[in-house]
Amino acid sequence: MMLKTLVALAACAYSALAAPYPHDTTSLIQARAANSTACPGYTATNIVVTDAGLTADLTLAGAACNAYSEDIKDLKLVVEHQTDDRLHVKIYDAGLNVFQVQEEVLPRPTNDKTASSGAAVRFDVAAKPFAFKVTRNSNGEVLFDTAGTPLIFEKQYVRLRTNLPQNPNLYGLGEHSDSFRFHTKGYRRSFLNAESINIPNNANLYGSHPVYFDHRGEKGTHAVFLLNSSPMNIDINQDDAGNQYLEYNAIGGVLDLYFMAGPGPADVSKQYADIVGYSAMYPYWTLGFHQCKYGYWDVNMVAEVVANYSSAGIPLEVMWTDIDYMDGRQDFTLDPERFPLTKMKELVSTLHSRDQRYVVILDPGVHAFMEVEAYKNGHDADVFLKAADGTDLLGVQWPGAVAWPDWFHPNTQGWWTDEVLNFFDADSGVNIDGIWVDMNEASNFCQDTTCKPREKAIQDGIPPKPANSPRPNTGRPIPGFPSSFQPNSTKRSLETRQDEGQMKGFPDREWFKPAYTVNNHVGGLSDYTIWFNTSNYDGTHMYDTHNFYGHMMAMTMQKSMTVRRPELRPFVLTRSTWAGTGRKVTHWFGDNASDWEHYRTTIRQMLSFVSMHQMPLVGSDVCGFNGNTNEPLCARWAMLGAFQPFYRNHAELSTIQQEFYQWPSVAEAAKKAIDARYKLLDYIYTALHYQTTTGAPMINPLFFLYPTDANTFGIQEQWFYGDALLISPVTAENSDTVTYYLPNDVFYNYWTHEKVQGKGANVTESGLSTSDIPVHIRGGSIIPMRSNSANTTKALRENDFTVLVAPDANGYAKGRLYLDEGERVDQPDVSEIEFEYKDGKLSTTGSFGYGGNGDESVTVAEVVVLGQEQEAAVGAFSAEKGSVGVKGPWKLDAGFEVQL
Ligand code: NOJ
Repeated sequence: MMLKTLVALAACAYSALAAPYPHDTTSLIQARAANSTACPGYTATNIVVTDAGLTADLTLAGAACNAYSEDIKDLKLVVEHQTDDRLHVKIYDAGLNVFQVQEEVLPRPTNDKTASSGAAVRFDVAAKPFAFKVTRNSNGEVLFDTAGTPLIFEKQYVRLRTNLPQNPNLYGLGEHSDSFRFHTKGYRRSFLNAESINIPNNANLYGSHPVYFDHRGEKGTHAVFLLNSSPMNIDINQDDAGNQYLEYNAIGGVLDLYFMAGPGPADVSKQYADIVGYSAMYPYWTLGFHQCKYGYWDVNMVAEVVANYSSAGIPLEVMWTDIDYMDGRQDFTLDPERFPLTKMKELVSTLHSRDQRYVVILDPGVHAFMEVEAYKNGHDADVFLKAADGTDLLGVQWPGAVAWPDWFHPNTQGWWTDEVLNFFDADSGVNIDGIWVDMNEASNFCQDTTCKPREKAIQDGIPPKPANSPRPNTGRPIPGFPSSFQPNSTKRSLETRQDEGQMKGFPDREWFKPAYTVNNHVGGLSDYTIWFNTSNYDGTHMYDTHNFYGHMMAMTMQKSMTVRRPELRPFVLTRSTWAGTGRKVTHWFGDNASDWEHYRTTIRQMLSFVSMHQMPLVGSDVCGFNGNTNEPLCARWAMLGAFQPFYRNHAELSTIQQEFYQWPSVAEAAKKAIDARYKLLDYIYTALHYQTTTGAPMINPLFFLYPTDANTFGIQEQWFYGDALLISPVTAENSDTVTYYLPNDVFYNYWTHEKVQGKGANVTESGLSTSDIPVHIRGGSIIPMRSNSANTTKALRENDFTVLVAPDANGYAKGRLYLDEGERVDQPDVSEIEFEYKDGKLSTTGSFGYGGNGDESVTVAEVVVLGQEQEAAVGAFSAEKGSVGVKGPWKLDAGFEVQL
């Protein structure tokens, strides 16, 4: 009772401060419907405070304004201190009709019910007009404050605004190609997953991650995640009086907010992983170099590219094939002339015999003809989304008219897995190592509802009938798996679609043109995708679930791959993503252009996805996808890509070939880059492992490691690869110069081992050839490296380690090494080794369970300490630029110590 009174008092005090009704600005971004200024907001009543949170009823505080649709009169507020550093604030309709994201799509984090007294943040509520505020307890910093702008909660429009301090440092909100740290005036992020040729700026792209990081230097970092899949605009702007705000404008869904208190940037990354899930761990080989192109027109050409890499002496780990392999671009088929099964099997087994890997693509749309086995099977199992007349809803993708799998139908997983098992059968089919799912926003070649898919396909010159190639194999059985998928006769029930109170979304909405407009660079809401009025099997609608259609496909694919090879970690690359997609699959940044702007864009996208969206194994099409690349750009990109997590060269159909061996300078750059990448592969695999287990990012923006150095907050052309290597590439065309920032710290030039004292200032380096990229080791780090590189990652693992010690100003350093077998899901024997260097002595502690398979080495051949001015001790050798080293060997089956 006492507590309740206090909160109420606090609420009064708070509400007294708030202006009753706000100035609703004529936003720079978009003029709003005139009557949104007159919206009454809500009044909070029945405020019940518990130890770990609060509940309240919210009631519309006056006449409905119906700004963009009907106001919902009765809402509920639930506030939960779920952990010490996570606050959950949810505002939803009392009738439970508004759509809420299904648990199966995003399993909610557990609520530990932390006592609010011990929580990092405080929640204050103002009753009338309803507003709330989240404050960091340790320093009184207000993190979120909705006072001054009434909440609007309507059937097809939700608005919530928070006031922010001036000049905030805001990041995240992927997927975008904009600056890493956002502009704070007139900036809009739109969330509507869409095909995005040339990844335009200021536009919705393939994925939606409505989480932003707010970094306030010494005052701490926090993040806010809005668990809402509706198309929305998030505006970052200033009102007429110059007050800074961030405003959510969604066309549906509820306000399901998670506040992560940090206080450090990497703490926030971890707290976000606690909500949406920790990334999957990927096989060691996925960190090797990958080659792809749309337009490898037959299997011979694919084989030739592999052979050319080999004769050029450039290590190629993974070969890919785009839709070219398919018969008439139909999923689960092979072109019988250009990619016949016998040749495909030969290709894959040759790759495997050389310890290389193979990946192919699949699209969601299944060619809708009964002659197409995958379609017939799917149709019989009723797995496709339905048009109003109950027939399979059609669209157009590469093969022509396609039906769209309904990932919510209970038969879909079984059907899809069965197709995967058949087609990718290790003995009788194409024995892939990983899979790539594309076009899954979903991208529909039909513009809008006037489109007649079968006619459109013909107009586009796609043959009306399916190409007629048989599947590569006839039947299984596969040992250990059910003989064949038996669909359940689960029929769709129209009734479930209408159910009230089930958080499935109102059934009677304006599906295509709601009054509030979410910006979509491809046109209207439903343009070039699956129509928003389409209902899913569970009764929800594409209007609400569109943004995770691709996520659902990727999750389904991941499960199928797990059934196919249960003992191995699946590798699935998806174009479309949503919050939490990273827990099972990974992503590349889609169809960039072969130009310098997009070379720079790769850095910004990587920084956001790895450190803020918990998708570590990401990268862009190296050398660029659309348009012809050129020699200097491709050479620089070969270097840049080698220090990003996912490293794949890929290009569009009509472009010139851009394999690294096409130009001498590119080949030279690639060899040097891959040599460096492979020597560092265990270091980065270790960083990946720790991201998957602790959420600490494997790629660090500079401010993550120097959070109080304001010079780092806006840096978007440098990054830390792991937490020890600062990468500062040349980013300008026709330039041999780069100006980069070196924080006030000890660094070492990675290539020369020379000690460099960072002064918290810019440094300019010139004369950098296209195979040069400045890399600095951060003082205080220990990097376990392979002493030599190799042609494949398997051979790489046969090489011994060099432990490179880079002491800080106090002569101290630490680092770690994670070792396992590299590919299996179950890793009973792993090593988690901690290295520490102190007072001239290196010691190793931790666990040493991984003994190495076959010829693998788990031996440290030498320890090298950088930046030593004194004479090397007895038994040590002096190396260049003041390094001293000691030769081993030391087997990593137990700890060892070395005095240098
Ligand atoms: C679009 C993808 O983004 C691209 O990478 C691919 O090459 C084409 N589809 C063809 O499959």
